[in-house]
Amino acid sequence: MLNPESINFEIELLASHHDKAAFSCGNERLDRYLHTIATQDKKRNIAIPYVISDKDRQKIIGYYTLSMSGINLEELPQNLAKKIPRYPIVGVNLIGRLAVSNDYRGYGWGKLLIMDALHRSLRISKATASFAVVVEAIDAEAVKFYQRFDFQAFTDREFKLFRTMSNIEKAFDTKP
Ligand SMILES: CC(C)(COP(=O)(O)OP(=O)(O)OC[C@H]1O[C@@H](n2cnc3c(N)ncnc32)[C@H](O)[C@@H]1OP(=O)(O)O)[C@@H](O)C(=O)NCCC(=O)NCCS
Repeated sequence: MLNPESINFEIELLASHHDKAAFSCGNERLDRYLHTIATQDKKRNIAIPYVISDKDRQKIIGYYTLSMSGINLEELPQNLAKKIPRYPIVGVNLIGRLAVSNDYRGYGWGKLLIMDALHRSLRISKATASFAVVVEAIDAEAVKFYQRFDFQAFTDREFKLFRTMSNIEKAFDTKP
């Protein structure tokens, strides 16, 4: 089986020992990003790529990128925007890209990537405040995937979604 319980995997920063060229998720833009741009983005501090790798098969199972970004309050639904001071820009964490290799799809790796990205963002937000985690979905199918994890669309932006940090914190709160 190729599920997380049966595979010897590691979540780490993208590094030179990862076989980027062999990665294929079926979306050309997300493949090309990992093959040719992700390492440059990391070097230039534009976005940090994290990968889950299958250590025994030496394959990249999936990846996501994290960076800081900002949103205008007008982008948020009114009921939420009115609870926030009227600063021009509010800081957020951005999951710019996320993909699972075709070979590993449907086994729970996408969920693991999202959960790792949310938890990492929550930890970062304790040092550098962040109102929400924002995602840029690549297409309508990807929107459905993110909605499955409680992301909601911005006003007038079908493919840009967010989940507030307070909501994420509640989800990870394991206190009784
Ligand atoms: C979307 C993608 C990341 C899902 O990865 P995956 O490993 O197959 O997903 P998982 O097996 O972890 O599925 C987790 C849950 O999401 C659901 N799900 C998976 N793909 C979905 C989709 N396209 N639409 C709605 N729900 C989806 C699963 O049914 C599962 O639900 P469950 O927990 O209720 O059983 C993967 O198909 C992919 O890389 N697609 C191409 C690139 C892409 O669309 N990236 C996303 C955003 S840019």
